[in-house]
Amino acid sequence: MAFPKQIRLVDVAPRDGLQNEPEAIDTDTKLELIDRLADAGLRHIEAASFVSPKWVPQMADHREVMTGLKRRPGITYSALTPNLKGLEAALECGVEEVAVFGAASEAFSHKNINCSIAESLERFAPVLERAQQAGIRVRGYVSCVLGCPYEGEIAPAKVAEVAKALFEMGCFEVSLGDTIGTGTPLKAKRMLEAVARDVPMDKLAAHFHDTYGQALANLYAVLEEGIAVIDSSVAGLGGCPYAKGAAGNVASEDVVYLLNGLGIDSGVDLDKLAATGDWITQAIGRPNRSKAGVATATKLSDTSG
Ligand code: HMG
Ligand code: MG
Repeated sequence: MAFPKQIRLVDVAPRDGLQNEPEAIDTDTKLELIDRLADAGLRHIEAASFVSPKWVPQMADHREVMTGLKRRPGITYSALTPNLKGLEAALECGVEEVAVFGAASEAFSHKNINCSIAESLERFAPVLERAQQAGIRVRGYVSCVLGCPYEGEIAPAKVAEVAKALFEMGCFEVSLGDTIGTGTPLKAKRMLEAVARDVPMDKLAAHFHDTYGQALANLYAVLEEGIAVIDSSVAGLGGCPYAKGAAGNVASEDVVYLLNGLGIDSGVDLDKLAATGDWITQAIGRPNRSKAGVATATKLSDTSG
């Protein structure tokens, strides 16, 4: 299979990247991050999460983030909405795309959203119905597609079952999350092959975390299979509050560098993205986990100084 010519990158740093931070991050920093990502050429930015502030305090300012955005034409600013309550609040803030998030692991589903997989699908059905009425798109996530912190191995057939249910329910795209980053390339390929028997490849996205340094290798493997939507997080920020030890998402800068080398267009300006990664990690006092980001930012400051 030839590589796709173009990739749609979804930067999830403002949500997945920041949801796990121990220190409070002010809303203005989040808004500036979102705007810098847009300026770097990201066309799809996951901006907020309308979840319970008791469960995820870092996302408590979801209304302020969603209404404070400097909206630019052609850019989708999406938000997580686990239930109708979240969706209604997001709609009041003018959201134009939301996401529901399920899991391929029963144990993780309980820890993350306090219900079984079957119950979660029942909960998502009215969210999809209401979103459809409001004319907005719903993305579906499946977590733990290559392993679970509580159950260990996850069968590809289980991932396919949940992905299919989300797709048939009306999700326009299903993002496959290696939540704890334990996947390796062959495993990623096999999982994707199983899912693609039930959901068309062009309706799937890869959402890989880099805990074991395998995310880029895994992405290369699924690019070969035909994946054309990739979730990533600038500077590799992130982790899931309900997946202990999960390191960040694959860094957006590393993905863009890889895609540039493969001649695949992402529409993203690596220099601007690297400067954004440099800025946000300094602003929140976190290490920059992107090798390509650090190398590019260093080169930029060398040549400008
Ligand atoms: P619950 O306790 O079962 O729900 O939580 P509930 O309906 O009984 O409500 C309990 C309380 O939460 C009530 O408040 C509700 O009003 C409130 P109280 O009466 O106690 O004051 N509540 C809400 N508040 C704000 N917004 C809402 C909302 N819903 C209820 N939407 C619930 C169920 C899903 C709400 C909870 O478990 C939750 O918020 N979980 C969030 C988990 C989360 O955000 N995890 C991280 C994102 S997933 C992820 O990172 C993985 C991903 O990146 C993919 C990958 O990496 O693989 C997507
Ligand atoms: Mg994630």
